[in-house]
Amino acid sequence: MAGMIDFSGKAVLITGGATGIGRATARAFATAGAAVMIGDVDARAGETVALIEQEGGKASWFEANVVDPAAMVALVAECVGKYGRMDAAFNNAGVLPPQRPLHEIPLDEFNLAIDVDLKGVFFAMQAELRHFLKVGGGAIVNTASVGGLIADPGMSPYIAAKHAVVGLTKAAAVDYGRLGIRVNAIAPGFVVTPMTQHWADSKEFTDMFFAGNVSGRASQPEEIAGTVLHLCSDAASYINGATITIDGGQTAH
Ligand SMILES: NC(=O)c1ccc[n+]([C@@H]2O[C@H](COP(=O)([O-])OP(=O)(O)OC[C@H]3O[C@@H](n4cnc5c(N)ncnc54)[C@H](O)[C@@H]3O)[C@@H](O)[C@H]2O)c1
Repeated sequence: MAGMIDFSGKAVLITGGATGIGRATARAFATAGAAVMIGDVDARAGETVALIEQEGGKASWFEANVVDPAAMVALVAECVGKYGRMDAAFNNAGVLPPQRPLHEIPLDEFNLAIDVDLKGVFFAMQAELRHFLKVGGGAIVNTASVGGLIADPGMSPYIAAKHAVVGLTKAAAVDYGRLGIRVNAIAPGFVVTPMTQHWADSKEFTDMFFAGNVSGRASQPEEIAGTVLHLCSDAASYINGATITIDGGQTAH
């Protein structure tokens, strides 16, 4: 087991690495020796790169919108062009549309969740899988959510998209399992990031959430990163098509 989560000499692609879970995971991969290529639409990806470089790691970023299939092809090419390889990919970019009851949701908000949270993962996987098929293997981790397993109120576009990410993950595992490619998902619970800062800042919300949560607290992005590294490593060589909850016990309750 020792040394199995060592990414020295490897390269990893991460979408949505500008902030939050993606940034923490990019830093963790770099600390474990990987060269990291971040694809994002937010220039704060440059801050993630600077942090990694200060920590002695190797990273760069490429402006790429996950809703654009050509941008995902270009992102993979950028990773392989810059680092000579791509060993793993973390499809993590996502958005959370405003919360409303289903009958009040405008089509553009439904489409936003489907486009970024679902099609974005699909387009990224297509580009990554073509590369992994060429080189004979690789590992993919998709960011679903506990919202991919259960439903929270007022979030139906996000819930639908994240449930579909769980399905897409299983489908890809089935299609590519014999070809050396593993595809898994993570299902985080409440993680304090820019996406959820408004919840973290609301005493009413945290009182309600923490009272019902097994761990009685939210998590930090750094608590999500380790599972992604594990799933991308040889230590997870027989984990395929799985969705791993990282929710402090929320869905066990
Ligand atoms: N924070 C939570 O509680 C929580 C829980 C479960 C799942 N998630 C999921 O985790 C992932 C990361 O979210 P986070 O909480 O770190 O929030 P975040 O807002 O900090 O990170 C989202 C990242 O995705 C990027 N992004 C958004 N749209 C994009 C696009 N079209 N193309 C490329 N990049 C884009 C953003 O710029 C940002 O870097 C998301 O998929 C989210 O749904 C978050």
